[in-house]
Amino acid sequence: MEAFVTEVLRFSSLVANGVPHTVLEDVKLRDYIIPKDSVIFTTTEAIHSDPSYFESPEEFRPERFLTAEGKFNTPREGLFPFGIGKRQCIGESLARMELFIFLTTLAQNFSFSSPPGKKIDISPDEIPIINKPRVEQDIMITIRK
Ligand code: HEM
Repeated sequence: MEAFVTEVLRFSSLVANGVPHTVLEDVKLRDYIIPKDSVIFTTTEAIHSDPSYFESPEEFRPERFLTAEGKFNTPREGLFPFGIGKRQCIGESLARMELFIFLTTLAQNFSFSSPPGKKIDISPDEIPIINKPRVEQDIMITIRK
C-alpha cells in the first residue's frame, strides 16, 4: 500500500506546478540568473516524469518502490509531491495518513475495475496548478467477499 500510495503521488503529481513563490534577491542557478521578484513555480510533474529518476515514468508501476523482497523502498531522489524546503506542505503527514487509511479500507472491501467494454482514463484533467482526477467516468465497484 505504501508503494501504491507513493506511485499515485508520483504519477498524479496532484499539485503539478507547486504553490507560486517569489525570489527575494537575484539568484544564480547554474547558467541562469533568476531576477529578484520573479514568480517561481516548481513543476513537480517534470521531475516525476524524468526518466533519469524513474524508468518508463509514463507507466503506473507501484512495484518501482519495492525491493526484490517486496519491502517498501523509500525513494531518495526525484520525488516531491509535497514540495520541498521551508514552505513544504504542512499537511503532508495528515494527507499520507488519510491516503493510507482510506485506500487500505477501500481496497480491503471493494474491487475497482473498468465497466465491460470501457476503459478508465487515469491521465490527469489539467486545470491551472492542479492535476485533477477525471471523475466524470464510469468505474465498476464490486464488494469483495
Ligand atoms: C495529497 C495531498 C496533498 C498534496 C499532494 C499537497 C501538496 C502541496 C504542495 C506541492 C505544496 C507547495 C509546497 C511548496 O511551495 O514547496 C503544498 C503547500 C501547502 N499545503 Fe499541501 N498537499 C496536500 C494536502 C494538504 C493537506 C491535507 C493540507 C492541510 C490540512 C495541506 C496544507 C498545505 C498548506 C497550508 C500549504 C502552504 C504551506 C506554506 O506555504 O508554508 N496540504 N501542498
